[in-house]
Amino acid sequence: MKDNCLKTRFKITRLAVVFIFVAILSVGFEADAQSSLKVPPNINYCATQAQKTLGAIPASGNNLPRNIDNGKTDWRYVNYKDWCSGFWPGILWYLYEGTHDQKWKTAANKFTQELKPLSEYSGFDHDLGFMVFNSFGNGYRLTKDPGYKQVILRSADSLATLFNPKVGTILSWPAMVKKMNWPHNTIIDNMINLELLFWASKNGGSRHLYDIAVKHAETTMHNHFRPDYTSYHVVVYDTVTGKKIQGITHQGYADNSMWARGQSWAIYGFTMCYRETGNAEFLDFAQKVADVYLNRLPADLIPYWDFDDPTIPNAPKDASAACITASALLELSTFVKDKTRAWFYRHKAEAMLQTLSSSSYQSRGTNDAFLLHSTGHHPAGTEIDASIIYADYYYLEALLRREKLQHIKAYHHYKSR
Ligand code: GLY
Repeated sequence: MKDNCLKTRFKITRLAVVFIFVAILSVGFEADAQSSLKVPPNINYCATQAQKTLGAIPASGNNLPRNIDNGKTDWRYVNYKDWCSGFWPGILWYLYEGTHDQKWKTAANKFTQELKPLSEYSGFDHDLGFMVFNSFGNGYRLTKDPGYKQVILRSADSLATLFNPKVGTILSWPAMVKKMNWPHNTIIDNMINLELLFWASKNGGSRHLYDIAVKHAETTMHNHFRPDYTSYHVVVYDTVTGKKIQGITHQGYADNSMWARGQSWAIYGFTMCYRETGNAEFLDFAQKVADVYLNRLPADLIPYWDFDDPTIPNAPKDASAACITASALLELSTFVKDKTRAWFYRHKAEAMLQTLSSSSYQSRGTNDAFLLHSTGHHPAGTEIDASIIYADYYYLEALLRREKLQHIKAYHHYKSR
């Protein structure tokens, strides 16, 4: 009798264990099933739109697409000196990576070469990172062309000349020193351009470049954020004492508001700094700046241009911030050790991509860009609710990252670039 009772208990325990195991598995499957994002058709969509842009680009003069204003159908073109010049060549490299079609490689090389004079500039602007790394950086990653490498290394040395050791950051906008009386200014966007320095230091450049990038990230982590981990856009420093004078905005709603794209640059930047350094402080910080952003998103996960604009829900959205964040969260999800948290970031990113890939956000027949509804510089009244080239760049980057993640089970062995 006692024996039978023990056997029954044993069976029940075994059944319970099996049940719990199946339940855990099915939660995992459910999470997977929820993500019905189809990446290849969206990459093909980007290729179709880019082909239309290629066909419309002027043969000479300014020919790098920057934005299509709301209500217009044609790109506004800029030349290599514009901060957005690297995004179009970068898109072409990503299309080559995503489709393996040689025609994208040919086009990517043509437009990348247009940016070559940048390597001759000294102390230009922090944006050199965006311009050179998205074009030549992606080009070198995919072709190993030594000519590209030379441009990247020279540009990294040039960017490093803007570093002020007293402050511990790069001077982001030399032109604003006089214009705005901001003696040493650093903007949150500058975090992205540290990638150029990290790469150069590991590929033949000086170790000094690595140290500058780390110091810039550490100083920014300490001075650029409010206690709730929302970012200032600009921090102004005293060049003599190196001390912070004030945190302000230039492109946001107010000095103390959370400008959406600025917060996205922070999420992306600190995630990348963790990838390059392995410093756990950066990984922890990337999660903190991501969490405050995610906690305050509207239901469709695409932020208003500034989280504190009092006209919300009538304020314009910024799809570009969503694209940057989606790409960053996909990478962040590969580093976070806590599996539940890692899945949370990945699924948020996928849900963002799902919304961005819907008819509400894709441009489709409206114009030749990939996406609508980005906001560039709201206070200046420019690029409001527009198509902007960097939204397209990070959208495609995020799709490619998602594609690479698709088959990867062992998360922590994944390399995003
Ligand atoms: N880096 C300039 C911007 O995000 O608008």
